[in-house]
Amino acid sequence: MSDTPGCPDPVSSSPSNEPDLTTKYCGLTLRNPLVAAASPATGSLAGLVELDASGVGAIVLPSLFEELIEAEAAANSRTFQFGSAYHAEVAAGHLPAVGHPGRTAKDVVAFTAEAKAAVSVPIIASLNGVSLGGWTKYASQMEAAGADAIELNIYRVAANQYASAEEVENDYLEIVRLVRGRVEIPLTVKIGPQFTSLGHFVRRLADAGADGLVLFNRFYQPNIDLDRLELIPDLVLSSSEENRLVLRWMAILHRKVNASLAATTGVHTADDVVRLLVAGADVVMVASTILLNGSEQVGVLRDGLQQWLDANGHKSVGDIRGVLSQLHVADPEAFERSSYMENLDSFENP
Ligand SMILES: Cc1cc2nc3c(=O)[nH]c(=O)nc-3n(C[C@H](O)[C@H](O)[C@H](O)COP(=O)(O)O)c2cc1C
Repeated sequence: MSDTPGCPDPVSSSPSNEPDLTTKYCGLTLRNPLVAAASPATGSLAGLVELDASGVGAIVLPSLFEELIEAEAAANSRTFQFGSAYHAEVAAGHLPAVGHPGRTAKDVVAFTAEAKAAVSVPIIASLNGVSLGGWTKYASQMEAAGADAIELNIYRVAANQYASAEEVENDYLEIVRLVRGRVEIPLTVKIGPQFTSLGHFVRRLADAGADGLVLFNRFYQPNIDLDRLELIPDLVLSSSEENRLVLRWMAILHRKVNASLAATTGVHTADDVVRLLVAGADVVMVASTILLNGSEQVGVLRDGLQQWLDANGHKSVGDIRGVLSQLHVADPEAFERSSYMENLDSFENP
């Protein structure tokens, strides 16, 4: 382990002259820093095998959602009370087909084991929820099924005007402690960017037991259908411009928080990957670009990263990680303020 907080130094073991991409993430050794983020691309065995073949470093399975678990539990208890009028499948069927469409929670656990058997790279199982419910017990079932790590996605839009920032944060921490207490394997926490003092909060997440931070959850914005005058789901895939916020926070947090850092949102090109690594990410996650271009895109990104390292005289990915971070910036807030002014100043009228 390195003596700085966060991820240990990468292992240097490349037999050839090619730059060594080996990466440590939460104690797991990955062949490269490219991780397939949770998405439909990681929800079938065929998709997982393709991602493995195209050279991905690790794979996050689609989430098991708290809502599915709770709906099944409610349907089971009604079945118990009133006979066969209610069925778990019916209750689950009314939920949107997110995560693992058509699968029960039990199936999702079984899929974790199948995924593990199908590929050579680490499998990270994902749990997604917001309450302190019994759903968290699925973390231990996923561990027993062979998951190499658990990614806990806490997706909460803090819309309750009577809950203070501290109360909201404490809720997150309680969930993290609960899941941490259930598993021995590494635990990562995926959150959005909307916290008043993000740096302070992620320190608290690490103290609560998060081995890794996945930044950031992409908050899906609703749209309005003007003909029917109703809210509609309207998922737009990301673009590279969106990784700027992630870039900033990777640079601020690199080696300053006792957890590995995974960058997610807006990674589409090899240049995006390099930028996030030099900012300080330990690994870089991709979803939209795989959905748009197929799993071969992972190989394109990996080759691009390798070529960039080679062309710039670097022997390993560890050589560049965090070189443009704020690790040695004495006053990050003053630094951000001056960058802000510099940015405004750089504008030229088109
Ligand atoms: C169709 C779709 C389904 C997704 N499902 C999940 C999920 O089950 N769990 C999760 O944590 N993130 C999920 N995500 C979010 C991605 O893992 C990723 O964090 C996000 O798309 C940003 O990365 P990108 O810019 O590479 O797409 C999903 C994204 C998409 C587009």
